[in-house]
Amino acid sequence: AKTRHFKWAVESMYWSPDCVENVVIGINGQFPGPTIRARAGDTIAVELTNKLHTEGVVIHWHGIRQFGTPWADGTASISQCAINPGETFLFRFKVDKAGTYFYHGHYGMQRSAGLYGSLIVDVAQGEKEPFHYDGEFNLLLSDWWHKSSQLQEVDLSSKPFRWIGEPQSLLINGRGQYNCSLAAHFGNSSSISCDLRGNEQCAPQILHVHPNKIYRLRVTSTTALASLNLAIGNHKLVVVEADGNYVEPFSVDDMDIYSGESYSILFTTDQDPSKNYWISLSVRGREPKTPQALTILNYSPTSASNLPTSPPPIAPLWNDYNHSKAFSTNILARTGSARPPTTYDRRVFLLNTQNHIDGYVKWAINNVSLVLPATPYLGSIKYGLKRAFDRRNPPENFPFDYDVTKPAPNPNSTYGNGVYTFSLNSTVDVILQNANALAPNVSEIHPWHLHGHDFWVLGYGEGKFTNEDERKFNLKDPPLRNTAVIFPYGWTALRFVANNPGVWAFHCHIEPHLHMGMGVVFAEGVDHVSKIPKEALTCGLTGKMFMNNKG
Ligand code: C2O
Ligand code: CU
Repeated sequence: AKTRHFKWAVESMYWSPDCVENVVIGINGQFPGPTIRARAGDTIAVELTNKLHTEGVVIHWHGIRQFGTPWADGTASISQCAINPGETFLFRFKVDKAGTYFYHGHYGMQRSAGLYGSLIVDVAQGEKEPFHYDGEFNLLLSDWWHKSSQLQEVDLSSKPFRWIGEPQSLLINGRGQYNCSLAAHFGNSSSISCDLRGNEQCAPQILHVHPNKIYRLRVTSTTALASLNLAIGNHKLVVVEADGNYVEPFSVDDMDIYSGESYSILFTTDQDPSKNYWISLSVRGREPKTPQALTILNYSPTSASNLPTSPPPIAPLWNDYNHSKAFSTNILARTGSARPPTTYDRRVFLLNTQNHIDGYVKWAINNVSLVLPATPYLGSIKYGLKRAFDRRNPPENFPFDYDVTKPAPNPNSTYGNGVYTFSLNSTVDVILQNANALAPNVSEIHPWHLHGHDFWVLGYGEGKFTNEDERKFNLKDPPLRNTAVIFPYGWTALRFVANNPGVWAFHCHIEPHLHMGMGVVFAEGVDHVSKIPKEALTCGLTGKMFMNNKG
């Protein structure tokens, strides 16, 4: 195993992600940021300098569990202080498990501003993947607004509330086309044909393939909002990996991917090699106001400039949730994977609601809307700083007569920053319960992401969870994931072992939702955490504590 060193400068820069010039947060002059590629067991050392002029920054390594290095998780107010402009921070951590991951800003809405990139971990030297392929591609999916993330933040926290709306463009590896469509010549599309030379920042990245080969496509979604559907015209997709865990292979025509998820799929180039084919990306779960994103699968020796001869794949209807559920429930652990413990030590119910607080619109969990404290929890818990956050336990349940099918009779909620503390190595069940939002007949998709762990997805269900639903849990081959969706008006049951000393965010991966309070904080075994680098804790009460100790 190696240590791989990187020197990164994070800065704002002009860029045209969708052919419209705008400002993105880039790394070393690149957008998306550089891809990190390593082998399982390697250590990654990223020396990150914040070259933003007026904002702090942190980077979270999404899907990396950070065993023994909880201070490198890159979550502002949880694992560390934001890195100030001009300062440098060293993220040093092990990538212990092969898989497809990504990284992104985890402060304010910097992910929406474009601060993200890919992190790919290959199997350790001498080891083999449990499937064969001849070549691979990586697609990092995101969504893009023409309004800056700072303005979006102001919109979301204004009274009256201003919703940011749907993204202007979907991006594939940071590239989309707002002004034009590659498929404008088909049907009644009112958009104009793209006139791209190929060297523009917004030109689609074309996937060049040879006939009769198997390719691995790594797909990751770091969208701020959009749930997506991916298809390759005329080609089947065989899903083999989800969130860095092998799954039992299954074949589909198109796949859903939610923010925070990653997959590997295999496809075989068994189609007519004298043609090219569309790779399409469409919005799911919200009434789409964003055009489909497209790129091209180019068969050698056909010219890449030949557009496909048939129209792009038609996405399933945005609200065809049965289609989405069928995909999610198809995902099962690969035969031979570790099974979950058959019992749990503690079960936490988390009700997801949209609320009002003093006329502001918020999201809340068990009627508490998360506002992060000034001192990172990892430091305040480790050093017993009592006044850093609310030491009372947050609610583990919600009123048994709560009607999840209707807007709440009283939508008022409160702010909070309490922590769910689990005994080290205990087995925890989380039942995520979806509900109606503020408006009648609205319930949204929320992809929940857990830091520091993978969890088993024991099941999905409709309506309010009841104890009888437990009989339907899959304890035989549930998939291990780090992100799982709750469907409108439904519940999702997760199980994990609290075996990673540290403090961990668990939140909706839709960035505006997290910003509006849709998250909770978990902690376990913090007394076992040793040697937190001081540079991680130079703010808030921990910062004061260090100053006094020196004096
Ligand atoms: Cu990728 Cu806390 O998120
Ligand atoms: Cu959400």
